[in-house]
Amino acid sequence: MNKEELLSGFAKAFGGGGDIRGYFAPGRVNLIGEHIDYNGGHVFPCALNTGNTAVVRQRDDRKLRSFSANYPRLGILEASLDDLVKRNESWTNYVKGVIWVLEKRGMHVTKGFDIYIYGNIPGSGLSSSAAMEVVVGTMLKDYYGFDLTPVDIACIGQEAENAFIGMNCGIMDQFASAMGKKGQAIFLDTATLEYQYVPLRLEGCKIVVTNSNKPHSLVSSHYNERRQECEKALSDLQKALPVSALCQLTPEQFEANKSLIADPLCRMRAKHAVYEEDRTNKAVKALMANDLVTFGRLLNESGDSLRYDYDATCPEIDALVEEARKQEGVYGSRETGGGWGGNTVSIVREDCVEAFRRNVTEAYRERTGLRCSVYELEVGDGGRRIF
Ligand code: GLA
Repeated sequence: MNKEELLSGFAKAFGGGGDIRGYFAPGRVNLIGEHIDYNGGHVFPCALNTGNTAVVRQRDDRKLRSFSANYPRLGILEASLDDLVKRNESWTNYVKGVIWVLEKRGMHVTKGFDIYIYGNIPGSGLSSSAAMEVVVGTMLKDYYGFDLTPVDIACIGQEAENAFIGMNCGIMDQFASAMGKKGQAIFLDTATLEYQYVPLRLEGCKIVVTNSNKPHSLVSSHYNERRQECEKALSDLQKALPVSALCQLTPEQFEANKSLIADPLCRMRAKHAVYEEDRTNKAVKALMANDLVTFGRLLNESGDSLRYDYDATCPEIDALVEEARKQEGVYGSRETGGGWGGNTVSIVREDCVEAFRRNVTEAYRERTGLRCSVYELEVGDGGRRIF
């Protein structure tokens, strides 16, 4: 939607006039470093050029009135600044959650808003919830002049997700949504929040995102359970080792000490975390050296580890990855994001992308009965005011 369409959608929902502003925050794709942002590891995501747009006008009372262009049948959903409580599974929980965290931190949102949201992130699994938190944080900072950096906005979004929504995620998604940069991936140390932008110039290759159209539901899935398994593995290791996060261990240290982890399942989860950290560091180096063969191989290893050690995939994703890897000109392919569905990311030689699209779509349909969506990744900027 362009600005005129957004404004006319807003006017239709709430009436026109007054000081109407627009904000945008993107979704993300993670290239490598999966399920280690809550284990003190490094991750390598980038922001999409699609995301959530919020068109907003401040109100004189304390009502929050929200309308989604994606769910028009729901109509205007009403809430109040005096009742910041999570209700049902409504998307407005993300709006309330961010305000709730700001209040807790002493930043007061005194007046309500009319909020019109339009989202264009394809399918599920590309962090539309993080994009919602970041767009709301960006807009509140702008209206109230809160002294917040984009990194603060990311941390507030994560806190809203953890403490208000109940999803124990790490910082990766909100960070990518707030700090994304066009054409660049972010090499982020989730233990310190130090980061480095890495240009995504893959000579002769494209990064292809494929949506399995198998929805995943993170909270109801095993995400929080995986996190607990990692914590259990860590506390077993801490009986003998002075470490505060799984990703502080090298693979060699892990191998020498893994018998300390009593539960074999927890040992497998910890193995994923330790080796994924090692792979991520190597993958970023390989990409910087334009060594796409190594980069792709590490993506494959990451995908296999997610499948076999972390048990975070599903039959549809496994089929998609298997079919992708059979194609000519594919350097690597794996599940990306929270897991148990969602999307894959593949590195594909430019002249093979069209055949990849055709063949993978066809084979995936035959194997699962589902239609996947295949598109080339375009990396955009992080959260901002757009008008
Ligand atoms: C979800 C979470 C992130 C991260 C990924 C897995 O997207 O929100 O914090 O843990 O899963 O890498």
